Amino acid sequence: MRDLLAAVTALRERLGEIPQADERRLQDLKTEILGRKAGALTKILGALPDLTPADRKAVGATANVLKRDFEAAFAARERELARAARAPGGGAGGGADLTMPGRATWRGGLHLVTQVVDEIYDIFRELGFTRAVGPEAETEWYNFGALNFPKDHPAIDAQDSFYLGEGVLLRTHTSPVQVRTMERFPPPIRVVSPGQCYRRDPFDPSHSPVFEQIEGLVVDEGVSFVDLKATLGAFARRFFGPDTATRFSPSYFPFTEPSADMQVSCSVCRGAGCPTCKHTGWMEILGSGMVHPAVLENCRLDPERYTGFAFGMGPHRIAMVRHGIPDIRLFFESDVRFLSQFTGGGGWGRGGGSAP
Ligand code: DAH
Repeated sequence: MRDLLAAVTALRERLGEIPQADERRLQDLKTEILGRKAGALTKILGALPDLTPADRKAVGATANVLKRDFEAAFAARERELARAARAPGGGAGGGADLTMPGRATWRGGLHLVTQVVDEIYDIFRELGFTRAVGPEAETEWYNFGALNFPKDHPAIDAQDSFYLGEGVLLRTHTSPVQVRTMERFPPPIRVVSPGQCYRRDPFDPSHSPVFEQIEGLVVDEGVSFVDLKATLGAFARRFFGPDTATRFSPSYFPFTEPSADMQVSCSVCRGAGCPTCKHTGWMEILGSGMVHPAVLENCRLDPERYTGFAFGMGPHRIAMVRHGIPDIRLFFESDVRFLSQFTGGGGWGRGGGSAP
């Protein structure tokens, strides 16, 4: 009986091996100590029936406590090894710790002006228009001459335009794309042309020396002012909403005759009067007119056979009136606190847990 007690005490020492054991060693230890046939502790417990009742009680009590301690130590070590296998870099978990909170990732969005250009282009595409492009560095002929500007027009002055060299300047509007299109493609023509334009304007709340324009041009036999009004009215209702009213007032551009500015009922106050429409209930959004016969002739089109209409609008301005934005400079400052209000989903979001 004394031997048995000594054996139990010696076995207790081995508890200390368990916290360091790896998976294989742990299995071996379990077999060695608690194994059903040859386990050291199993054997001690198996010898109990041969002892006197008093000895059985003494040895049985210590041996049973030791058995519970071994079982608890094996279970604790097993849990620990399983947790380590799921941790980053460990075992079959492949490095993903599924309990980590996700990392925030930055998602970009399109600039508001880009969105407005795309939206305007999409509406005209549904109306049968295609996209035309032209260079930003233009000759005086395309920018002014072919568009019927008189030679002494103030816009031709170097004080108003950025000249790159003799007779070459940064285009002051997208209208030269009209000329380039008519030179290259025979009617019927239906194009819109978005792009950057440049003028020597101060950088103030309503001007920028760089700005976006969208030009439109339709040329065919029998095109009339009715087509102009119907097309631009349809555009305004699609862009600003079905209840939008339009009105045209006489204007002047060298390359159109007659010319007209189009106004739409204010999209912010619906015509009641507010700061965006300067309390008039109307907002001017584009210039337009019937293509001047002299422009058609400059493009070698017969004005007796063909007529057309053209229009030009500023997406910066349109974005401003639509959202009640007071200062054009906000578009150029790249302040994400301003821009992210319009990106519809851009900004900080929850990304995947362990993206690199
Ligand atoms: N090019 C004009 C500007 O820069 C805008 C414009 C007005 C374009 C009337 C047109 C038009 O095509 O018909 O202010």
